[in-house]
Amino acid sequence: MKRCSIIIHSVTGNNYIIASHLKSILEESGIETRLYRVEDADLHIFANKLETSNEYYEELQDLPVVTNEKLTKSNVIVLGCPTYFANMSAEMKTFIDGTIDLYESDALEGKHFACFTSCGGGIEDGQESLASMRRWAEQMKMIEVDAADLIHVSGEEGRIRPSLDFGKDIEEFASSLMAVLN
Ligand SMILES: Cc1cc2nc3c(=O)[nH]c(=O)nc-3n(C[C@H](O)[C@H](O)[C@H](O)COP(=O)(O)O)c2cc1C
Repeated sequence: MKRCSIIIHSVTGNNYIIASHLKSILEESGIETRLYRVEDADLHIFANKLETSNEYYEELQDLPVVTNEKLTKSNVIVLGCPTYFANMSAEMKTFIDGTIDLYESDALEGKHFACFTSCGGGIEDGQESLASMRRWAEQMKMIEVDAADLIHVSGEEGRIRPSLDFGKDIEEFASSLMAVLN
């Protein structure tokens, strides 16, 4: 059976909400789906400062941390992280930099890739963030899934959670993934 791995960084929970919903949709369609997080050494500090961060802190901490081996076992790799200064977050970048061995061995060549982001308000910033994740996939010789940009807008301190309408965008995104997973 083909496997989809969703790898997230999330501080105030929005990327986690998107990833959880995506995972449920894929699993309902019988697709083996794993959800991992990247390391985040100071998540507890934000959880103490921001209500939005505290809300999903335990659930985030309970996710297994991704490893390069998990990537090699996946047919589709989906990255999701906050947009920070019109880029992917530093925590996601640190994870990506740790995949250099996989780059050298072309271990991810031919696997499918997709990504999403949550940003405070700047859709253009979100697009830049997606572009930064796509550059990694391109260098890894992965094949991008044909899907519309999935960019959530969260407002101040990430308070605007993904809406029911945004849920429909996630469903469409999931359908694009299913097209290569079935
Ligand atoms: C350090 C930092 C930088 C940010 N930079 C941007 C930015 O450039 N553009 C933007 O629209 N939002 C920016 N944001 C807002 C986050 O992208 C937004 O809150 C997002 O929903 C967080 O995702 P999460 O809830 O999964 O942690 C920034 C937030 C932080 C903490």
